[in-house]
Amino acid sequence: MTLSIAVASGTGGVGKTSMSVNLSLTFAQMNKRTTLLDADFGMANAHILLGVKPDYFISDALKGNVSINQTLCSGPAGLKFVSGGSGLIDMLNLDKKTRYQTIRLFDEIADETDMLIADVPAGASDSSIAFVSAADKVLIVLVGEPTSFLDAYSLIKVAHLEAGLSNFSVVVNMTQSEAQAKSHFEKFNSIAQKFLDVNLHYVGHLPLSTRIRQSIVSRKPISIDAKDSRENACFQRIAKNILNSPKNDTSRVRFFDQQFVQSKRVG
Ligand SMILES: Nc1ncnc2c1ncn2[C@@H]1O[C@H](COP(=O)(O)OP(=O)(O)OP(=O)(O)O)[C@@H](O)[C@H]1O
Ligand SMILES: [Mg+2]
Repeated sequence: MTLSIAVASGTGGVGKTSMSVNLSLTFAQMNKRTTLLDADFGMANAHILLGVKPDYFISDALKGNVSINQTLCSGPAGLKFVSGGSGLIDMLNLDKKTRYQTIRLFDEIADETDMLIADVPAGASDSSIAFVSAADKVLIVLVGEPTSFLDAYSLIKVAHLEAGLSNFSVVVNMTQSEAQAKSHFEKFNSIAQKFLDVNLHYVGHLPLSTRIRQSIVSRKPISIDAKDSRENACFQRIAKNILNSPKNDTSRVRFFDQQFVQSKRVG
């Protein structure tokens, strides 16, 4: 069975892509066959952090020019990666049908995949909600600013009310300490609990770190290049906690829906 995780946030620029890339590499190094989907379609940039140059984008598979397998490029530690493409204007606002087709494309690789991580665009657009609700688990990236709290709350509210999701993992990024991260989480959780019937699970923190910035400039992810660093210890802890966090179970359009995976096998 493949586990899918959507990495999302209310506000942009909070570290979703660096989190998605390093968590994917952490899972890959745990010997899980992992695929990273850069679902920030048209504005994709995870390939830069990974230091890979994709030959194809997800749009090539949607057009039927190549299979989803052919769009996958190889990253470090055996990670497979598919890019949402950058500067592709027609990918910026996917309609409902194309979102559905994108999710169904992955059925073909179900048997070779243990984990699918989707780096989702910031905010609560139809596209973000579609990919968040298609995944088994959602990881919300939060930073300790009122704008991040407000927008993350809105995202959770829409995902709960429109898509029926109840379980959300939360990681607090760019903190001074673990204690500060926990305090931010407690504050955020108490606001959410007041108004919404949802379960938020704290899965860890990541310090504000120049090493993270440098890793992006050098295109060498920390989880590969600085294995003994405190940042990598954080990624490992977050990865383990996410594996132990509860799944969402909705009847929405989902990644790796067994009904479709089976019919692909039969077909
Ligand atoms: N823990 C951290 N410490 C220092 N800088 C960080 C940290 N996490 C992320 N950054 C920096 O913040 C910036 C935004 O990170 P990233 O691109 O991962 O965010 P994002 O949420 O994917 O943004 P967008 O919403 O635009 O897709 C990058 O310059 C990155 O280096
Ligand atoms: Mg991003």
